[in-house]
Amino acid sequence: MRVYVLNGVNLDVLGRRDPAHYGSLTLPELEGKVREWGEELGLEVDCRQTNAEGEYVGWIHEALDSADGVIVNPGAWTHYSYAIRDALELLSVPVVEVHLSDVEAREEWRRTSVVRDVAAKTVMGKGPEGYREALEFLDKL
Ligand code: DQA
Repeated sequence: MRVYVLNGVNLDVLGRRDPAHYGSLTLPELEGKVREWGEELGLEVDCRQTNAEGEYVGWIHEALDSADGVIVNPGAWTHYSYAIRDALELLSVPVVEVHLSDVEAREEWRRTSVVRDVAAKTVMGKGPEGYREALEFLDKL
C-alpha cells in the first residue's frame, strides 16, 4: 500500500514555530518518524512538503493514479483553500486530515476546515502521533 503524506504551507519551519502548539520536532525528524511507522506497518510512505499551493494540488492529482491513501496536513490552507478541497474530492482513495495542534481549541478561524468533509478521518491535537494514527487507520481499511 502506497501512502502520500503531504505537508503544506509553513510546515517546513517546524522546530521554529510555537512549541506549545507544534512541539519541537523539525520536519525531517517528523518525516523520519512517519517513515519508520510506515515501515512497521509494511506501508510504502512518500513524504512531501511545499509552500506552493499549486504544487500541493499537483501532488494530489498525481495521487489519483499512484497512491492508495493520502494523509494531508495542509497547514493554514486547511481553513480556506477550496482549490485543495476540490482536488482532494477527486480522489477515490481515502484521505486523512491531520493537524499537530488542536485546531478546534485555538482561534475561531482555525475551527473551519474546508477539507474535512472530503476526509475519511480527521486527527488533531496529538502532535506527531496523529500521523501514526492516520497510517494505522489507512492500514486497517
Ligand atoms: C496546523 C494547524 C493550522 O491552523 C496551522 O495554520 C498550521 C499547522 C497543525 O498542524 O496544527 O500551519 O495544520
